[in-house]
Parts: sequence; C-alpha cells; structure tokens
Amino acid sequence: MNERATESASSLQRLFEVEIVDFNVEGAGVGRWDGRVVFVPGGVIGDRLEVRVVAERRRWLEALPVKLIEPSAHRRPALCAQQGRCGGCPLMIVDPATALAWKVRHLSRQLEKLAEVVLPIEPVLPSPLAVEYRSRVRLALTRRGGRWRAGYRPRGRGRGVVTVDRCHLLAPGGWEVVERLLAALDGASLASGQAPSHLEVRASLAAGRWLALWHGGRAAGGELRRLSRRVLEMGAPLAGVALVGRSGRRPVWVEGRREVIERIGEIAFPLGFQGFAQVNPAAAGALYRLAGRALRDPEGKAPDSLLDLYCGAGLLALHGAGPSTRVVGVEADPAGLRPAAAAARVRGLDDARFVAGDAEAITTRLADAGERFEALAINPPRAGMGASIPRLARTLGVERVVMVSCHPATAARDVARLEAAGFRAVAVGAVDMFPQTPHLEVVIRLESEGGR
Ligand SMILES: C[S@@+](CC[C@H](N)C(=O)[O-])C[C@H]1O[C@@H](n2cnc3c(N)ncnc32)[C@H](O)[C@@H]1O
Repeated sequence: MNERATESASSLQRLFEVEIVDFNVEGAGVGRWDGRVVFVPGGVIGDRLEVRVVAERRRWLEALPVKLIEPSAHRRPALCAQQGRCGGCPLMIVDPATALAWKVRHLSRQLEKLAEVVLPIEPVLPSPLAVEYRSRVRLALTRRGGRWRAGYRPRGRGRGVVTVDRCHLLAPGGWEVVERLLAALDGASLASGQAPSHLEVRASLAAGRWLALWHGGRAAGGELRRLSRRVLEMGAPLAGVALVGRSGRRPVWVEGRREVIERIGEIAFPLGFQGFAQVNPAAAGALYRLAGRALRDPEGKAPDSLLDLYCGAGLLALHGAGPSTRVVGVEADPAGLRPAAAAARVRGLDDARFVAGDAEAITTRLADAGERFEALAINPPRAGMGASIPRLARTLGVERVVMVSCHPATAARDVARLEAAGFRAVAVGAVDMFPQTPHLEVVIRLESEGGR
C-alpha cells in the first residue's frame, strides 16, 4: 500500500463482500477478491465486510469498509475516538492475544521466507502497559477555527493533519504538557510563517518530568520563547523547552532544564532533547535485559570486548557488559553520545568509548586497525544494517551477535546476510514493545560457525 495508487482503473468504487484472513505489515486487514489481494484498513481477521474500492493496482486493491456484515470474534471496541483516522493504532480494535499471535506469525514467516531460518520463537515478553506507555511523541501542529491543534500525518494519505483530542498511547503527563503549550500558542501573536510545524514531547518516566521541543519555527527568539518560559513557570511535569530550526540540528535556544535523568532497565542516563530513546521505557527495560543476557556466554560471563553498532545511548552494550568489558559504541547522531558516556561512567565501566559516525565506515576502520571483539550488539534503524557489516563482523573475530530490530522483514534480510557471512541464528525472542500497533521488537542471537 506504500505505492501511490492510480485512480483510473475499472474496479474503483466497486462494492463487494470480502472475508479478512490476515493483516499486512501496516495492520490493515487482508482478504482476496477476484484473484487479487484486497487491503482493508479497519478490517479484523475473521470479519466479513462489504467494502468499496478506493485504490487499485494490477495485483492488489485497497478498499474501505462500508458495512460490517459479520464481525470477527476477535474484534473489540476502540478506546480512542480517533482510532482508524490518525493511523497510529490499527490493532486497537483487535483482542490483544490475536494481535500478538499475528505479530509472532508475521515474524516467523519473514524469518523463514527471507532467511530460511525456522526456529521456535521464545514466549514474547509483554509490555507492562497496553496504553499510555509512550514516553515520546512528535505531533504535527495546525490551526483550526482560530485554535492550535496537534495531531498526526497518516502515512500515504495526503498532506493533512488528523488532529487528536488526546493520544491514548502517551504516558500520563504528556498530553497535559501538549495542551498547556497549545493554549499558550493560542494566546500568542506569532506572525505567519513563524509558528512551529511540530511539537515533540519526551519524558523521563522514572522522574515524571517532560521536555518539549518545538520544530521548525522561524521565530528564533521572541514570542515563542516567551510563551514557553511562561508555561515552564507553571511547573511540573514540564522541565525544559527548546526550539530546533528546520535543519533539525542543535537547539537554537533552551529554556529550563536541558536534560532529565531517565532510568531504563539497569541504567540511569541523562535524556536530552535529541538523540534516540526507546518510546516504551518499561518494555525497553525487558528488552535490554533480554539482549544483555544474550550477549553473555552460555555460562553467563560478560564478553571481554563488545562492539555496539547504531548504539544510541549505548543501553544494549551497557546491559551486556561486565565491569572489565572493553566497549566500543558507534552512533551517527552525536546527541546520543553524551548519555552513553555518562551512563557508562555511572555503571563503572572504565574501558568504554562511544564514537560518532557511520556504523559501516567506523567498523571498517576498526577491522583495518586489527581490532577484535568477542560480541556484537546491533540495533539498526528500520532500513537495517549496512551491507558490509556481516563480513566485517567475521574479520573482527565476533563470536556472537545479538541483533535487535523493530522491523521483522529487514531483520530477516540481515539474518540472511549474517548467515551467509558464517553466523548461525540460534535463538529468537521478542518484546511486545508497541501494543495497539503491528510492530514487534525482535531479539535474535547468532553464533559464529567454526569459532573465530
Ligand atoms: C533503533 S535505534 C537503536 C539505538 C540503540 N542501539 C538502542 O537499542 O537503544 C538506531 C540508531 O541508529 C542510529 N543510526 C542511524 N543510521 C546510522 C548509521 N549509518 N551509523 C550509525 N548510527 C546510525 C540512529 O541515530 C539511532 O540512534
């Protein structure tokens, strides 16, 4: 459904009945009609629906429900009035056990299809919270009826903003911060073009403190800064506000706190306005503990040396390392490095360094310099790891790899590449880090075949 659909084909606007038998990666229902796959946003496995075609390709149709002829036994009411409009929680209308079973099935299918790996998936670790779990969200801003509103831009559905009255995924306190800042914007006199395009809020849930980041406002100082200061003076839970310009780089200005101390799993670290942070800290704690155990040897001994690629705040490495482990972390966004170094110090790791740069380029340099690592932790962005990393991991003498990913398809492709380079997948675990959505966080352990 990512491709742009044509509007000229003959099935457009047609009505027909379809039974939903699966979900796609975006959480839309999947059925078949007239030899073609039909994607039905809002369809639940087991539903019988009347649908109307809204987009068409040679091999697939996209159709919207017109009538629920026979609802699935797995269907449940959405607890959010915007569900189905904002694009954020397609599985909120599915009972949690069915949703999770589908996620596991999808992961198994991807591993089998793309990597020819058939392994049992360990019982999925649940998210402690099914809603109100997110500590971070980025909202698009728009002015409607003379008031500022926040919302989402659903993928592939034009340029509009679907405004939301409250996002039920955001942790307590977050929406109050958003509302205070929007109310302050309402009372301000920002010239057109000076208003920010987005508002991001992120929290230390451990401390119950939030940071707010305006994006893209041209008003570098002046009114936006003054109104932010006034909201800060209202006190908790807001601790700091900043503005980043269109480049998205360092903040142009900061009011209040630059950082709040967050704790995820075993690690306390300073969380700033920028740099990667997992969106579900409670589930991320379980993820890092699982990955940390997998980085140790079968006797539970921490590796002598550990390379953490795409390391963010270094939390994978810091959970896998022991006091004498030599750690190198590599992260493209320099904003991640300060929290990583600070957390390593608190953890008492004397031999940890975190390097800013491209993971592939720096791994190549490490390999050229003859460095060796016992274990590799790797959690790349959704596009997956650099293509040369599996081969470089062999050159570095890596004995075990723990790969974490929120994207089963690219994870499976990367497993295939690691296997081709001489590693073998031995265990697959997962954490249900994103309830109400089709995403699943995967932890795959691979071992080097034939030793170093
Ligand atoms: C999914 S996050 C994982 C962060 C961390 N490993 C964790 O598990 O918490 C992926 C990270 O990769 C970083 N990144 C993206 N492209 C990169 C590249 N080419 N080289 C190094 N880091 C990169 C991003 O900035 C982001 O922090």
